Amino acid sequence: MIVGIDKIGFATAKYKLDMTDLATARATDPNKYSIGLMLDTLSIAPITEDIVTLGAAAAEKILTSEDKANIDMVILATESGIDQSKAAAVFVHALLGIQPFARSIEIKEACYSATAALNYAKLHVTVHPQSKVLVIASDIAKYGLHTSGEPTQGAGAIAMLVTSQPRILAFNDDNIAQTRDVMDFWRPNYSTTPFVQGMFSTKQYLDSLKTTWQEYQKRQGLSLDDFSAFCFHVPYPKLANKGLNKLLDKSVSDKAKERLVQNFEDSIIYSRKIGNIYTGSLYLCFLSLLENTQSLKAGNRIGFFSYGSGAVSEIFSGNLVAGFNGMLKYDHLTEIDDRILLSVDDYEKLFFEELQLDADGNANFADYQTHTFALDSIIEHQRRYRKN
Ligand code: COA
Repeated sequence: MIVGIDKIGFATAKYKLDMTDLATARATDPNKYSIGLMLDTLSIAPITEDIVTLGAAAAEKILTSEDKANIDMVILATESGIDQSKAAAVFVHALLGIQPFARSIEIKEACYSATAALNYAKLHVTVHPQSKVLVIASDIAKYGLHTSGEPTQGAGAIAMLVTSQPRILAFNDDNIAQTRDVMDFWRPNYSTTPFVQGMFSTKQYLDSLKTTWQEYQKRQGLSLDDFSAFCFHVPYPKLANKGLNKLLDKSVSDKAKERLVQNFEDSIIYSRKIGNIYTGSLYLCFLSLLENTQSLKAGNRIGFFSYGSGAVSEIFSGNLVAGFNGMLKYDHLTEIDDRILLSVDDYEKLFFEELQLDADGNANFADYQTHTFALDSIIEHQRRYRKN
């Protein structure tokens, strides 16, 4: 049975921050951001755009009414949850009008969770080949003003429809995961922004990559020459670039090296403009590769490195399916470039606006631009959404 990604969609916030403006405001050399981190702009979400609105917008782009009638599971992967009890997937299920006899859940393990969601979806579809599972990776990466992570923030969601007979990517059953208990990045319930040991987290990312890759090679008997492209979790593109360089050892042929480096450049085009979207960032990397490369063909093997602080990592692969290009119907580059540019002052106000509830638990919001959906209000502590 072939199971994999049949459709993939993306949505990001309507506002952007230019990294040169941020560098000036933070008295930093702009090259540190553009060359040192390889970031040009960041997506900035207002209070009315959250993981529900972004996730629903990404999914609404790709789903037909037939899909909505057949989806029997919605999994929303996130580390920027809006409720400790109710899954964001339940709101998304309602906004999209998915048939009622579906399971809707939220899943968490930092930036790794969308990979776990895809695994659950794969297992479900393997047992029930008629099923369609909607996997959404939705996050708002917010580190806080004047922190070392500030230049690596961002906002966005990826939606993937997992089915049998997929038309984009067929999963191979070759996943190798690794868990290690480290405190490189975490966000306790009492904090709106994460605690992060920045340099330690980059070391964990790279060491998890190295050791998971060694184990993958040992168990699967594959080398980099077997891969047409490798997609990475991208907290910021420079770290993914270091990851690629770690894999490109002397055993890799020059031809494979050239191919992997070129495809890597295409895979980070969107991340350079969006910033970090946590668990969706690996799949944003895949989308960017698909929509910007000229060289990929059906049957090509794509590698994936997923990493979530804490830490869980995984390497797996999939093969491109004949006709995959025909499934890419959206001009994401124009959508990304059309975002509204914010001054640093406005970014500070908009991104860090705090919820003001009255004594009865009600809140209304200013009229910000959002994607397809918006958080309309909060009434007696209940979030109310609307379609724009
Ligand atoms: N021109 C060009 N490059 C410059 C530069 C300049 N003027 N100034 C600095 N750089 C380079 C540095 O050499 C470094 O590159 P290198 O990693 O190849 O050595 C890079 O820019 C970053 O500079 P550094 O001083 O190390 O940055 P920092 O101390 O401000 O923090 C992070 C970097 C990643 C630790 C920080 O952004 C962070 O905490 N991010 C969030 C955590 C994260 O994303 N973790 C990833 C794993 S999940």
